Amino acid sequence: MTGEISSVIGGKQAAGGTDYDSINPSRVDEVVARVRLADAETFSSACRTAAAAQREWARVPAPVRGRVIASIGRLVEANAESLARLVTREIGKPYAEALGEVREIVDTCDFFLGEGRRLYGQTVPSEMPDKNLFTFRVPVGVAAVITAGNFPVAVPSWYLVPALLAGNAVVWKPAEYAAASAEALYRLFAASGLPDGVLNLVFADGAATFEGLEAALDEGTVHKVGFTGSTEVGRRIGELCGRHLQSPCLELGGKNPMVVAADADLDLAVEGALFSGFGTAGQRCTSLGTAIVHESVHDEFLGRLTRALAAAGIGDPAGDVLCGPLLDHRFASRYEEYLGWIQPHHKVVSGPTGRITAGNPRGDFTGEGGLYYHPVIVDGVRPGDRLFLEETFGPIIGVTSFSTLEEALELANRPGYGLSSSVYTTDPATAFRFREGIGAGMVSVNNSTSGAEAHLPFGGNGRSGNGSRQSGMWVLDQFTRWQAMNWDHSGRLQKAQMDVVEIVPDVNFRL
Ligand code: UN1
Repeated sequence: MTGEISSVIGGKQAAGGTDYDSINPSRVDEVVARVRLADAETFSSACRTAAAAQREWARVPAPVRGRVIASIGRLVEANAESLARLVTREIGKPYAEALGEVREIVDTCDFFLGEGRRLYGQTVPSEMPDKNLFTFRVPVGVAAVITAGNFPVAVPSWYLVPALLAGNAVVWKPAEYAAASAEALYRLFAASGLPDGVLNLVFADGAATFEGLEAALDEGTVHKVGFTGSTEVGRRIGELCGRHLQSPCLELGGKNPMVVAADADLDLAVEGALFSGFGTAGQRCTSLGTAIVHESVHDEFLGRLTRALAAAGIGDPAGDVLCGPLLDHRFASRYEEYLGWIQPHHKVVSGPTGRITAGNPRGDFTGEGGLYYHPVIVDGVRPGDRLFLEETFGPIIGVTSFSTLEEALELANRPGYGLSSSVYTTDPATAFRFREGIGAGMVSVNNSTSGAEAHLPFGGNGRSGNGSRQSGMWVLDQFTRWQAMNWDHSGRLQKAQMDVVEIVPDVNFRL
């Protein structure tokens, strides 16, 4: 069954727009939803609607807003299977992972429902008597949230839940190819009783979104931009926001390294590399980029990983597989470009590459009708290679070797991203030296590069972002601003720094 969906602004469906078909990547002829894509003016009008609704929402006591977040969590939990099935159908994420993704929304709600009662400010001592100092967290206003479709419901919730809890209104622009999942999540949020206009959903392509966002920033109806997507688009959003004196929350790409030390538990490292390299068909921002393996265990690691990959299931994401199809046609063709980066000095140890078809099967699997690709392990990547330096969103990893930890760190940091990273070692000194030397925002020890828990700071440095962090209490700094208040009840003007009592020490005192 194909649904028809359109933007929802102020609780009402927006009219007009052009058609876009969101397809099922495991059966590309199947349309999951026909989406009406809005124009730039619709985007900026959604921001105006949000700005008008935000004032009232900010006046709802934070503990009451926390109860709304609790309701969202309950609604998502009660609809977990159907939401996960839709995610699997629309973007081809294996069902077990899709269920995990839905769980991440519930985890996020669990964390923030309590924050409604804990949105603490501080009382601060004044330097003068009869004067009190306070801090308050105030909402920023309207957040424009633009998200990718590889995590079509969990990653948006990282923005939406804390933004709403803190008293902001939101205009959410999800990825077109994950529109049906986004619309389902929107309906779950709406069922919590959020007032109309507090959360608005806009389906639009990148160009209309950018133009609409620029207009909204000019009009002063957007006060925070949250963006999850490519480094290239993140740069443009950062420039646009910078011109408006705003710092966006940017969650961009990654080229996440995994260092396997000589003393590592190799089976554990192989399991971690398999999951982070090929789970979600390698399409997480936290997916493994390059395995950097100590020269003494390189051949053994590579042999075990190659065998594990050969045995891994690739196929219908509704079943028990490691890897389903790529997200959408656009991602498939981009992935084919990345395959073109394989050079004569590389050694592809995993077997055939390219799309899985009857003429290029994977065992018995012919990939019939879906965007399925052979998973690829490329040994011998070098620091100058595009394959080594650039994010390759898809089921491909590079492997190289090192001799000293300093060299491993140099290789791990070289691409200039800095999202996630991992080290496999049995020596605590190696783990801590790795943590100190790596430029990534997230470090795993004896764990894969992907799979961050929903209440630790999530975010990157360098080409992975501008240092903003999502999740847990840290994301509140994105969606609130500190307001400082001083209240003098002395009945006179006490001038700071000037009218302060001084207690004079005997500076010449010696024992
Ligand atoms: C992403 O790919 O944008 O840490 C986010 C992880 C997931 C989130 C990935 N919890 O792999």
